[in-house]
Amino acid sequence: MKGVILAGGLGTRLYPLTKITNKHLLPIFDRPMIYYPIEALIHAGIRDIMIVTGGKKSGDFLSLLGNGSDFGLKHLNYTYQKGEGGIAEALGLCEHWAAGEPICVILGDNIIEKNITRAVRNFGEQRVGAKIMLKEVPDPQRFGVAQLKGERVLSIEEKPKSPKSSLAVIGIYLYDARVFEIIKTLEPSDRGELEITDVNNWYIRDGSMTCEVLDGWWTDAGTFESLLRAANLVAEGGANRKE
Ligand code: DAU
Repeated sequence: MKGVILAGGLGTRLYPLTKITNKHLLPIFDRPMIYYPIEALIHAGIRDIMIVTGGKKSGDFLSLLGNGSDFGLKHLNYTYQKGEGGIAEALGLCEHWAAGEPICVILGDNIIEKNITRAVRNFGEQRVGAKIMLKEVPDPQRFGVAQLKGERVLSIEEKPKSPKSSLAVIGIYLYDARVFEIIKTLEPSDRGELEITDVNNWYIRDGSMTCEVLDGWWTDAGTFESLLRAANLVAEGGANRKE
């Protein structure tokens, strides 16, 4: 399985912190934000990794990460997203590189306490369709929110005003190779983006979506509050624990 880290976008919710740098290069306690998703993929056994960056400072990713030697990698792949056309648009740029293999996608501002080893292994057995990961949160209206019936996902709503559950869809997704054809059928949402939630709802309608609840804490780091929360969580106990 290949891994994709989405680190494009303009990070406008963190202005002026992101006026002269990319959000994913900001510090989370003792490391740049982008280190955490790279480590999360590697802990799950995924070492063939593509980073999608964007904005004026995208060259800084090369200066910081090079070929990934800090992580014991021999090589890292990079591609460039112009503008902020959405998470699904950024993923669409990886089609050629993915070359028909299943992929594990992680948003560059998502940080986890533990690991996704089990989910990646289970998806390896599932082979067809997609898998999302869920986490109970106190503020679901900030996220994609899943409605479940038993273990089956019925639907996902992006940032609903009246959430049907408190289960956020976290920014870690597993897809079969059909994902790139699905992205090509999407229309921009009201916020002008190609939404990953629309991709996930396609798989739900197809009957090939599974889900797992993430073990341990999860946070994004795209707002001032969550950036601070992420730093505190990492400082207190560390992220990406193997066990
Ligand atoms: O964090 C989980 C949430 O992430 C999910 O629950 C939502 O369903 C999903 O839409 C997303 O919501 P956000 O509105 O918080 O996403 P945001 O615009 O902050 O983008 C998250 C990351 O995705 C960002 O750190 C970099 C990447 N991204 C985003 C956009 C808009 C790109 O690479 N390119 C883009 O154009």
